[in-house]
Amino acid sequence: MTVFRQTATARTWAIEQRLAGLKIGFVPTMGALHEGHLALVRKAKQLADVVAVSIFVNPTQFMEGEDLDRYPRSLDEDCHLLAEHHADAVLIPPVKEMYPDGFQTYVDVTEISRMLEGAVRPGHFRGVATVVNKLFNIMIPDLAVFGQKDYQQLLVIRRLVEDLNMPVDIISHPIVREEDGLAMSSRNRYLDRKQRKKASALHDALLAAQGDIKAGIRDPEEIVSAACTELSEVEVDYVAFVEPNTLQPAPADWERAVMLIAAKVGETRLIDNMVFSREGEEVTA
Ligand code: PAF
Repeated sequence: MTVFRQTATARTWAIEQRLAGLKIGFVPTMGALHEGHLALVRKAKQLADVVAVSIFVNPTQFMEGEDLDRYPRSLDEDCHLLAEHHADAVLIPPVKEMYPDGFQTYVDVTEISRMLEGAVRPGHFRGVATVVNKLFNIMIPDLAVFGQKDYQQLLVIRRLVEDLNMPVDIISHPIVREEDGLAMSSRNRYLDRKQRKKASALHDALLAAQGDIKAGIRDPEEIVSAACTELSEVEVDYVAFVEPNTLQPAPADWERAVMLIAAKVGETRLIDNMVFSREGEEVTA
């Protein structure tokens, strides 16, 4: 596995792979890798000839007062895990190289970025879209794999790629969960034991919603209420039951819908989601 600390050398590597006729799979991350990330690497390995991973804690997607400074960083362990999973290349660019003095170009995916996460964290998806666009320009991947846990991010990136004619296939991977259902996240490291127990409430809420749907309940409000009964011990930002592509409120006769939850446990903000068929089966994004 080759570790690149400079974008120019990573790009040269990517061009060489392309010239050799190899398909590049790419997994962008912010590091502090866990089983969820490793599942993305395995998926990329299945679909591509060579796999590149980036580790970059992207400052432009953190809002003022958020956890940029204390975001978990474990570079040595991350590289070790990636080598074990046979990643071919890792890009760990310095902030100064990604955002040099004078940097002033941002990508704004408008509508889909403004609601839900975007309403609570204005500017967040602008930072995500900008860095993903930059990373795609550097690694020139044929495909890139993203986790479904960041559901709205996935939609923003799909929109970005489609609107700007980027020749990259966006592959989504189902959420990887802990035994008690908590969606894996680098931020789970912030939780103490008590908080960790409370955090599984987000998944319990999704299961409560699923139980209602399977019992034949179709009314979005009733489904949201069922979920909320599980969330009394966390500080809810939003529970939304929406159309999976537009994130507009699900109509009464919905065929497919996604429930999106964001809540704080102590100071830690967690998100989770589940996409449902009208029969209440979980489906992938
Ligand atoms: O999902 C993440 O880890 C980040 O938002 C991403 C896509 C790597 C962009 O910084």
